[in-house]
Amino acid sequence: MRMRGEIAYKSEEEGEYEEMVGVQKQKYSVVGGFPQPKKVVVVGYALTSKKIKSFLQPKLERLARNKGILFVPIDQSRPLSDQGPFDIVLHKLSGKEWRHILEDYRQTHPEVTVLDPPDAIQHVYNRQSMLQDVADLNLSDTFGKVRVPRQLVIKRDPSSIPDAVNKAGLTLPLVAKPLVAKSHELSLAYDQYSLQKLEPPLVLQEFINHGGVLFKVYIVGEAIKVVRRFSLPDVSKRELSQNAGVFRFPRVSCAAASADDADLDPCIAELPPRPLLERLAKELRRRLGLRLFNLDIIREHGTRDRYYVIDINYFPGYGKMPEYEHIFTDFLLSLVQDK
Ligand SMILES: Nc1ncnc2c1ncn2[C@@H]1O[C@H](COP(=O)(O)OP(=O)(O)O)[C@@H](O)[C@H]1O
Ligand SMILES: [Mg+2]
Repeated sequence: MRMRGEIAYKSEEEGEYEEMVGVQKQKYSVVGGFPQPKKVVVVGYALTSKKIKSFLQPKLERLARNKGILFVPIDQSRPLSDQGPFDIVLHKLSGKEWRHILEDYRQTHPEVTVLDPPDAIQHVYNRQSMLQDVADLNLSDTFGKVRVPRQLVIKRDPSSIPDAVNKAGLTLPLVAKPLVAKSHELSLAYDQYSLQKLEPPLVLQEFINHGGVLFKVYIVGEAIKVVRRFSLPDVSKRELSQNAGVFRFPRVSCAAASADDADLDPCIAELPPRPLLERLAKELRRRLGLRLFNLDIIREHGTRDRYYVIDINYFPGYGKMPEYEHIFTDFLLSLVQDK
């Protein structure tokens, strides 16, 4: 039987993975007097072509190769067990069938690290369950408080919304978000009557004024990076009283330019305290059972320490995370070393 990590030999036999064989040949270390080839870490990936383009950039692949990591595409039309063998499987594909394939593979190949477990990913694709762990955590320390905006889930019947909002005591304006987080058609509702125009299933969330800047916290295992992005501007009481209706808004944080170099009010621009983010990330990693995700965090305008998590994304666009190439490759190596 072939041992894990010995794939290079297979490759040589079968003429596959030429680049990896190159790595294998170059890297020798001496153990007990005999030169031993260093093991290559094989990362199988099942990603959309869009993700491949943004994540698997040449710079990442080059750096990975130098560190002895090889990215190998997974062929979805063939059984996973016939491919690899992999040390790590990296994936972000949807569909029940794929989830079952991966779950089976996880059971039958406990030696392979699957990033991340399909069920844990599913949990953050639903905007109701996504923020539940943040709410349960109820983080509060000297560095700040982390909450989620008050929200209400509407499964059906739009005509019931004004009443439901009233009963729940939610304050306008409200952000309406499709329940399934894969859709980004968000809108802002200024008055209760117009809420009937919305299309369930959705989550209605209190809009929190935050000075038009949000923080994207990228998490890769234990590493954290924060970047500032422009967001929706504050809604004043006056504006609220003068406006009615429901307004669609585009994918603000995604489309917006980085707010890093902007001439911002320091109170708004100041990044959340590092120790607070460290604690939050550590807790959420554990509670969510995910290692690759990001959080959208806002700070309530006019406060120094009231933070709200408004969104969690699995395997976000790491291309926008500073130094992600180094962070990601170090993380992949650490997974194998820890085993
Ligand atoms: N509760 C809220 N208060 C204030 N702004 C919000 C709130 N929820 C969302 N936003 C704004 O809408 C944007 C998109 O919302 P988000 O929940 O991140 O959805 P998406 O899945 O489209 O990223 C955020 O980046 C932020 O600018
Ligand atoms: Mg978001």
